[in-house]
Amino acid sequence: MKLKSKLLISFGIILFVPIFMAAVISGFFFRVQVEEVAENIVFRPDVKSLFFEIVFSIFLILLLTALLLTMWIYQSIITPIRKLQKAADNIKEGNLDFQLEIDGSEGDELNELCVSFEDMRRRLKENAEEKIHNESENKTLISNIAHDLKTPITAIKGYAEGIMDGVANTPEKVDKYVRTIYSKANEMDTLINELTLYSKIDTNRIPYNFAKINVGEYFSDCVEEIGMDLEHKGIGLAYYNYVEDSVVIIADPEQLRRVVNNIVGNSAKYMNKPNGFINIRIKDVGDFIQVEIEDNGKGIPAKDLPYIFDRFYRGDASRNSATGGSGIGLSIVKKIIEDHGGKIWATSKEDTGTIMYFVIRKYQEVINE
Ligand SMILES: Nc1ncnc2c1ncn2[C@@H]1O[C@H](COP(=O)(O)OP(=O)(O)OP(=O)(O)O)[C@@H](O)[C@H]1O
Ligand SMILES: [Mg+2]
Repeated sequence: MKLKSKLLISFGIILFVPIFMAAVISGFFFRVQVEEVAENIVFRPDVKSLFFEIVFSIFLILLLTALLLTMWIYQSIITPIRKLQKAADNIKEGNLDFQLEIDGSEGDELNELCVSFEDMRRRLKENAEEKIHNESENKTLISNIAHDLKTPITAIKGYAEGIMDGVANTPEKVDKYVRTIYSKANEMDTLINELTLYSKIDTNRIPYNFAKINVGEYFSDCVEEIGMDLEHKGIGLAYYNYVEDSVVIIADPEQLRRVVNNIVGNSAKYMNKPNGFINIRIKDVGDFIQVEIEDNGKGIPAKDLPYIFDRFYRGDASRNSATGGSGIGLSIVKKIIEDHGGKIWATSKEDTGTIMYFVIRKYQEVINE
């Protein structure tokens, strides 16, 4: 049954039930009074007309009240329903920009329904926009991967042809060509491994093995390992630990090492000075420890800085340069740090150097007294 019909029926009932009851009761009293009048042998003809006037006035007042109340309820229900209907039709047609006007009072159930509906539309819109954004990112990803795989493959093909055609005509040349092929194949292997890891991390398929880690011990081990590697590359390394010996964090040691290696790896990769240097500082900042990795490399242009943690983002200079890479490194780093409940950011000055910062919450023993 339509809302309108239901309201009309209620309107009728509101109006006629009291009138009917009033008529029955008044009729009864009228008869009693007529009998009394008859007994007193005084007949009063105006009593009858007065009775009808009263009944008619009551009827008129009831009619107006019921009419006003019904219209008021009808309007307050039907107006938001019509709006909702229009908004739902728009969503059905795929128009997620249609905004529902909310002008009811707070606490009104239909107004709350409209607010929820508007929230739903906003979420749907955000999801749709995110989907479009992801699709375009995926397209960029495919073209980046194609580009990054094509470069070493072209080189491998070229050097293999060189060997087959006899261009590499001395054992030294053959050796050099084979080594280049090997290093290009390694490059591809690293890229594919990074991609696999990224997709696992992105879809939360990496089970973290969180453990209590002593900050001082962990980072001094880490730095020792990095130092040896950097020595080969002719880059100096200094380590400053400002946290107390007892400070502990909860982290996955393997993934945290990946974070440090990735950042230091970038510092080494983008080093453009003969006296390259990396400073690693561990600081105590209240509830967190802050790790700072500073280099005196080529720096990041201000226009690239906000995007370096985005997946597959590489500065123009990096993309066009000979340095390999796909721009996944820092996005993996960011994801790992965020999965540890931390934050990462960077400051940089072109031609001067870069500082990467990340914070991880300290572990505090809960003492039950
Ligand atoms: N220490 C740094 N010095 C200068 N530029 C940097 C530094 N670290 C990052 N960048 C810039 O940020 C970009 C993104 O870094 P990221 O590690 O995500 O990717 P990548 O090093 O290019 O590739 P990948 O790490 O996947 O091999 C780099 O391409 C580079 O332009
Ligand atoms: Mg990198």
